[in-house]
Amino acid sequence: MNVRPARSADLPRLAPLWRAAWLDGHEGHVPPELMAARGPEHFTVHAEKYLGTTLVATDADDHLLGLIILGDEDGEVIQLAVDGTARGQGVGGTLLRAAEDRFRGRHHQIWLAVVPGNTRARRLYEHLGWHDTGRLIYQSPTATGTTPVPVHRYVKDL
Ligand SMILES: CC(C)(COP(=O)(O)OP(=O)(O)OC[C@H]1O[C@@H](n2cnc3c(N)ncnc32)[C@H](O)[C@@H]1OP(=O)(O)O)[C@@H](O)C(=O)NCCC(=O)NCCS
Repeated sequence: MNVRPARSADLPRLAPLWRAAWLDGHEGHVPPELMAARGPEHFTVHAEKYLGTTLVATDADDHLLGLIILGDEDGEVIQLAVDGTARGQGVGGTLLRAAEDRFRGRHHQIWLAVVPGNTRARRLYEHLGWHDTGRLIYQSPTATGTTPVPVHRYVKDL
């Protein structure tokens, strides 16, 4: 497995991979308004918007296995997504460690938001030394503004 910065040639594969994984992690765990705002268009637009701060994991043939989107300003892991066929093989953990490497020296503590029902992701974060600081309301962007989504805020000291 290789981790490298995303590039524009990845976009046609990146956006659908991200959308499918996002649905897996969020369906049934977030308000209907957020589901309604997360059609294919959202992922296409945002994959391009975040391209400069996205890392991808690829296999030996450079096929995409997963992605991590980073918020350099405040040390946020904005999104983590692994293709359904590549889960349970350490891809998510490798991407999270790559994020730590990128943030180290710039932030003393990094953070992410995860919905309460996403137990698989929460287990992985805890396994990797992140800890839950409790609930907060995350204002998730929609086409017309934001919608409030209850999440847990996880942090990790670097
Ligand atoms: C959450 C998610 C990113 C995890 O990715 P992943 O690649 O499956 O993660 P890993 O393989 O590193 O770890 C997952 C599990 O495999 C185990 N694992 C780690 N390395 C492994 C390896 N080399 N071989 C076998 N298993 C391994 C981990 O211990 C972990 O076990 P757990 O499920 O009991 O916690 C992935 O399931 C996903 O994309 N889900 C949908 C989107 C989502 O929820 N994103 C997070 C939003 S906050």
